[in-house]
Amino acid sequence: MNSKINISDSLEELSQKFAQLLITGLNDFQNRFSLALSGGSTPKFIFKYLAKNFKDKINWEKINLFWGDERCVPPDHADSNYKMAFESLISEVGFPYENIFRIRGEIGPDVEAINYSNVISENVSFFNGLPRFDLIMLGLGEDGHTASIFPNKMELLDSGSICSAVEHPSSGQKRITLTGRVINNAKKVAFLVTGESKDRVVDMVLNKKQNYDRLPASFICPVDGELLWLLDKQAARLIYKA
Ligand code: 6PG
Repeated sequence: MNSKINISDSLEELSQKFAQLLITGLNDFQNRFSLALSGGSTPKFIFKYLAKNFKDKINWEKINLFWGDERCVPPDHADSNYKMAFESLISEVGFPYENIFRIRGEIGPDVEAINYSNVISENVSFFNGLPRFDLIMLGLGEDGHTASIFPNKMELLDSGSICSAVEHPSSGQKRITLTGRVINNAKKVAFLVTGESKDRVVDMVLNKKQNYDRLPASFICPVDGELLWLLDKQAARLIYKA
């Protein structure tokens, strides 16, 4: 696994770099490009930037769109990662509907975890016996979670399932998440992390500070792929301090 850290002066610059990652990946790839989106608030700016500046510069039709995790709510719910992506990107750039593989947050979590695992198996190519996404976008929680793999569920890093139903440790909100082995089977994994509130957890993970091994994000290391950290200055402000 090779990993790179890239620090941007602004969210615009970081978004530009993510767009370039997509363009490069699509150019290298003749078939369909399997992309898994992250949720939360960080991607919203990035998606809007892509829609505004890259609508006609990215071949959206070549992308099969998935999610790395979803909240178990209806697609029109304020917490829905699908809703956020639809409003800020999908509705603006014209993804062909048949290329969008939404996690159905509105049905029972255990049922949808199995269903979505099957959807991924049928639509993402395999490598080493696991689905291999071309690019998985990840965020980083202040508690070191990524996707919806939380510190109280470290076993999901080694789960034999493709997806799992989980609960948010503090809110109890039910979620569906990709598991660690699938994430680590990707060709490329990109963490997109911004803001001062993430500076400590970024430093903990990247510099293997005390208790880093209690954080799920510390175990994201593609077995035969590339790991990229796209950070803004605020999130990266501690990593080069002595
Ligand atoms: C989610 C995400 C989650 C997110 C982190 C960071 O569904 O919430 O997938 O893993 O990426 O919690 O969220 P922010 O970008 O909002 O800080």
